[in-house]
Amino acid sequence: MPKNILVIDSSPNGANSLSRKLAADTVAQLQAKYPGSTVRTRDLDKNPLPHLTGTTVAAFFTPPDSLTPELAAAIKLSDAATDELLAADIIVIGAPMWNFSIPSVLKAWIDHVVRRGRTFAYSATGAEGLAKGKTVFLALSRGAKYAEAPYKQMEFHETYLRGVLGFIGITDVHAIIAEGASMGPDGAKNAIAAAEQQLAAVMTKAA
Ligand SMILES: Cc1cc2nc3c(=O)[nH]c(=O)nc-3n(C[C@H](O)[C@H](O)[C@H](O)COP(=O)(O)O)c2cc1C
Repeated sequence: MPKNILVIDSSPNGANSLSRKLAADTVAQLQAKYPGSTVRTRDLDKNPLPHLTGTTVAAFFTPPDSLTPELAAAIKLSDAATDELLAADIIVIGAPMWNFSIPSVLKAWIDHVVRRGRTFAYSATGAEGLAKGKTVFLALSRGAKYAEAPYKQMEFHETYLRGVLGFIGITDVHAIIAEGASMGPDGAKNAIAAAEQQLAAVMTKAA
């Protein structure tokens, strides 16, 4: 069955980017698996979303029928990004590790789409994710390796993305990770080769 695929790319490295390559390879395999799928790409390097301002946050917490023209304008980009996320069956997120976490352009996108009343809700029993029934593929790249100490506890990359996606109700998350890319002359080549094997394994088990 064809799927609506949303791609979020965040590396500024263009054609040399490992995370963009992994994201593109993931999309190619998804298209082969689900012929006729549509692919929509949001390139956060070419078109970054602005940081949230006081006006944006005020607009988030104003009922839609009470929005002033200024507040409505402030929320427009967030509404578009959130609509895109909610319309997708599958989301492919390409993200290099930056300072042990994600690039700030990707964090800004997250700040625009984690929206009370749209992608999560609070009830007396706590928070509930509203973006259920979606599958996410994380196409991640890192200079070092994070399986063992001393770096293990500094891994706020995959862990953070899984955490925030779970908060909005997305728990079917598959990670493909090219790590150790900066380690030695063959680091990038070895990292990509290992990640491509992970991708093949993930594709056989992913729905
Ligand atoms: C600003 C910046 C910060 C980085 N921070 C880290 C880091 O904390 N840990 C790490 O392992 N690699 C770090 N790296 C290396 C990148 O994660 C690595 O080169 C990755 O392969 C880049 O992916 P890309 O080609 O998709 O941009 C950093 C690179 C840059 C440019």
